Amino acid sequence: MTQQISFILDGRVHQLGFEPGSPYTPITTVLQYLRSLPNHKGVKEGCAEGDCGACTVVLAEPSADGKLNYKAVNSCLLFLPKLHGKQLITVENLQDAQGTLHPVQQYVADSNGAQCGFCTPGIVMSLFGHYKTDLSAEREEIEDTLSGNLCRCTGYQPIFDAALKALDERKEDRFSQEEQDVAAQLKTISQSGVRIETTTHYYSFPASLQEAFTEMEAHPGALLLSGATDVALKVTKQHQQLPEIIDLSLVPELKKIETTGDMLRIGGGVSVNEVLEAAQKPFPALYKIAKRFGSKQIRHLATVGGNLAGASPIGDLTPVLMALKARVRVMRAKEQRTMALDDFITGYRQTALQEGELLTHIEIPFLSEQIKIGAYKISKRRDLDIATVSAAFRLEFGAGKQISEANLVYGGMAAMTKHARQAEDFLQGKEWNRTHAEAAARLIRDEFEPISDARSGADFRRIVAGNLLIRFWADDAGTK
Ligand SMILES: Cc1cc2nc3c(=O)[nH]c(=O)nc-3n(C[C@H](O)[C@H](O)[C@H](O)COP(=O)(O)OP(=O)(O)OC[C@H]3O[C@@H](n4cnc5c(N)ncnc54)[C@H](O)[C@@H]3O)c2cc1C
Ligand code: FES
Ligand code: FES
Repeated sequence: MTQQISFILDGRVHQLGFEPGSPYTPITTVLQYLRSLPNHKGVKEGCAEGDCGACTVVLAEPSADGKLNYKAVNSCLLFLPKLHGKQLITVENLQDAQGTLHPVQQYVADSNGAQCGFCTPGIVMSLFGHYKTDLSAEREEIEDTLSGNLCRCTGYQPIFDAALKALDERKEDRFSQEEQDVAAQLKTISQSGVRIETTTHYYSFPASLQEAFTEMEAHPGALLLSGATDVALKVTKQHQQLPEIIDLSLVPELKKIETTGDMLRIGGGVSVNEVLEAAQKPFPALYKIAKRFGSKQIRHLATVGGNLAGASPIGDLTPVLMALKARVRVMRAKEQRTMALDDFITGYRQTALQEGELLTHIEIPFLSEQIKIGAYKISKRRDLDIATVSAAFRLEFGAGKQISEANLVYGGMAAMTKHARQAEDFLQGKEWNRTHAEAAARLIRDEFEPISDARSGADFRRIVAGNLLIRFWADDAGTK
């Protein structure tokens, strides 16, 4: 265990301790750290809650093939210890020693895409993150990349033009030439876990599941965190101190995706972007919802475990995973238990997790041809918005045309993700046609008593909840 964190910035390994007198604590964000340095003022603070993208930086970390994975992330949501073992790249690092701009910067400048100094550095970093992956240069893909970068002035067109040109001509840049050296340097940084103890904070990075349980036993009151996209807001918005943190993001057992005979098993620490990739073929409804989750920057950090353990009534993954009959595996030191996700969520932001337990895996059974699944998210904006209402449906058919089991799961309609039980009972044994979909929709409108809030009135929620079932029928064209 080490007391310091080590990371690469500006081409060299930095070691940062948190001893008394240090201006930084383990809950200082990377944004605050960068803004405190004389030569990294390009990174900006807009919202400090992951919504504007002005603070976007890129993190590079070694992958299994010896190369580096580059991910654009919101530095306002990253606690400093999360830099351990990674390369931090900011907009100041993109040009080379001779002052030649990176192709992404050059095209943004040439296409008049540099519209204001506040958003442009973050936009450039998101595009740089895209440039450094094998994502396509299609407009849709670029839109997705920019979904976490707000521009409210003259619009995105010049930025898209710049992105299309830069990505069309993608070639080796100086980061590719330096990649092996950087990867080798990063490998020399100890991955054996970090434990930082200051007079005010305790922050540990267990390097295995066993170590995580030892830490949890020694610090029963500590807050667990994975991507910290929920937890960071406790610091940036509520100014909480979070004196004890156990960060699970370096636990390898939680980061695996495995296919067994009849299910996909996803580690609790797998990011939403990785879930998206894994779900595309076997679970298109999960893919569709994961694609609408936050922004690319958020999805790089946010994990499936954090989403379910947070038990938000508007969490995006819960309804669709419930419709997929996902099971949750939770573990404490030597014991483990598995339960239906339906039983895991017990109330408003409450779960069945007991003290000393953590969520280790989600298990999603593969679907048979007798099952139809659909999932929908209604929000005020398509990108980077939380759901006003979400719904996920599962219809199982027996040998005939009748529905043998219906699961209709809603988010945003109650204090927790909830089934529309009356409509489920009504559909059982019925044919799947418009008449029955409309009758079930009426029951759904009557069954829930949603709240009115800034996002919508209760009536809108009720109406849309029913209509989504009819939409599911229409999308399916009523055929089995
Ligand atoms: C700008 C922005 C946009 C967002 N958009 C969306 C969206 O579109 N849809 C959506 O659903 N959510 C959204 N969120 C919320 C958040 O990103 C998700 O809930 C995310 O999945 C949380 O995962 P995390 O790894 O960041 O969790 P963390 O913040 O690390 O943790 C969240 C909670 O889960 C607990 N926890 C984490 N991992 C485990 C584990 N393995 N075992 C037990 N407990 C654990 C933590 O103790 C904490 O209570 C958004 C957040 C932001 C800031
Ligand atoms: S400051 Fe707005 S996303 Fe970080
Ligand atoms: S680039 Fe800043 S508002 Fe458009």
